[in-house]
Amino acid sequence: MKKMPDKIAIDGPAASGKSTVAERLAEELGYLYFDTGVMYRAVTLAALKHLSRVEDETAVTELAQRVCIDVKPPSMDDGRKYDVFLDGQDVTWEIRKPEVDQNVSQVSAYSGVRQEMTSQQRRIGERGRVVMVGRDIGTVVLPNADLKIYLDASVEERAKRRHKEVLERGRSETYEEILSSMRRRDEIDSTRKIAPLVAAKDAYILNSDGLTVDGVLQKIHALLK
Ligand code: CDP
Repeated sequence: MKKMPDKIAIDGPAASGKSTVAERLAEELGYLYFDTGVMYRAVTLAALKHLSRVEDETAVTELAQRVCIDVKPPSMDDGRKYDVFLDGQDVTWEIRKPEVDQNVSQVSAYSGVRQEMTSQQRRIGERGRVVMVGRDIGTVVLPNADLKIYLDASVEERAKRRHKEVLERGRSETYEEILSSMRRRDEIDSTRKIAPLVAAKDAYILNSDGLTVDGVLQKIHALLK
């Protein structure tokens, strides 16, 4: 039998289904699931809290080096998949607010911020079998990952999924607001100089338009075989 891959990298644009798929896959395989977007979101939240803006690259980078971001198993049953702590404070839902969505791509384009996050993520990757999710996992963070997936979907489908999620959480943003914020984020993420959102040369590209989570998982399991 073929050896199971130790490191699985899943990249793709916002709301392409990466997190849900990766979490299920990790559970099925008994691997650690790690969502790197959480770290960029936590640094963005820290910048908004402590600096009230994210434009000062030096200040944001210093903050990224100083803050303590922790991800732990879920402590309560409110739909969360994990707890996210920023300097000991539970920020699991706060990192999902629109203000963070609007500023996270700018923060994650800063080279010092990326350096800091990448080295923390590699340390986590070295701990053992992992399914790691983000934008640059297959290209930069774990270039030697044994299986790389690039999960894509049309921006309209992705905005529809995210809109459903935010309504379920009791927020009131419109589909149009989410679509335009997502387009802006995709544009910054794909065109930044360092570690842009792009499929690794050796990644399998999966389009999840019209596919259920089970459908995507079936395709990944077929690749694993
Ligand atoms: O959940 P969603 O797909 O909307 O976003 P996320 O995965 O939480 O990532 C939020 C933002 O963090 C992205 O738009 C990127 O700007 C940045 N990010 C990154 O630059 N590199 C990563 N490995 C993960 C996220």
